[in-house]
Amino acid sequence: VEPTPEWFDEVRSLATARNATLLAHNYQLPAIQDVADHVGDSLALSRIASEAETDEIIFCGVHFMAETAKILSPDKRVLIPDARAGCSLADSITADDLRAWKAEYPDAVVVSYVNTTAEVKGLTDICCTSSNAVEVVASIDPDRMVLFLPDQFLGAHVKRVTGRENMQIWAGECHVHAGINGDELTARAQAHPDAELFVHPECGCATSALYLAGEGFVPEEKVKILSTGGMLDAARQTGAREVLVATEVGMLHQLRRAAPDVDFQAVNDRASCPYMKMITPAALLRCLREGRDEVLVAPDVAERARASVERMIAIGT
Ligand code: 13P
Ligand code: SF4
Repeated sequence: VEPTPEWFDEVRSLATARNATLLAHNYQLPAIQDVADHVGDSLALSRIASEAETDEIIFCGVHFMAETAKILSPDKRVLIPDARAGCSLADSITADDLRAWKAEYPDAVVVSYVNTTAEVKGLTDICCTSSNAVEVVASIDPDRMVLFLPDQFLGAHVKRVTGRENMQIWAGECHVHAGINGDELTARAQAHPDAELFVHPECGCATSALYLAGEGFVPEEKVKILSTGGMLDAARQTGAREVLVATEVGMLHQLRRAAPDVDFQAVNDRASCPYMKMITPAALLRCLREGRDEVLVAPDVAERARASVERMIAIGT
């Protein structure tokens, strides 16, 4: 199935007929982004899902995102075009792992990145996304220990920005972002000395980006550690002609739309998330025609997870 104008029209008319809101993450294929009602980062899409007034939400993203929408809107039908679209970061900690970790630190506050399963969220005090992780951790009583999971690079970024000492970080990673490494970023930054750098905090190179700035290889004001939504805001304001982007390559589509005069280039053009790309034009059409795959979360798990997700959507930008 090619994303032809006929495909676009059929998707739109089926979405209307089903009374569905179509949401797409910034890492989706360009055609999926273009046909959606809303495109955004994890935090923005969670907020939109919680306020949607249609009977159905069709989540073009990965499974934990659709689960989060279901947790926030248990009375709506939530569909994902392919339920096999998982996330290597969410897979890096299980509920049993977290139970064991909490037993070691019984008084700690658990902060989970939204890239986690519903069961892990059910054992969490506050969820966060890359947009508000710093604000979430800063909102916690400074005398309490924080257990931050599952992303080690985002955790290190939050620890650096907040200056918090009493914070333990799980050693998980996203295989796509971890693969965008410091050597590659350094080489690209040296080849493009006038470029700004937009770096997602899940990247293996997030530390190197600050190192480059700290050592004076790149002026500090040119290095921006941002969520995907934050990158779009920065793109609209940048005075730079060239920007090197360290995140999943799907992001380039919205960046180029937001600032058509800026030359956006991927730091690593192989950084494509295989799970995000399982949401193909054919899968979306099948989902709309056949009403599957439905995303269900056991009511008791959803009940336990809801408070942590609601705290997340209340905090930060
Ligand atoms: P954000 O859109 O919240 O920056 O998340 C990035 C990501 O990797 C989602 O899987
Ligand atoms: Fe998960 Fe990484 Fe894919 Fe995001 S890019 S969905 S964190 S595997």
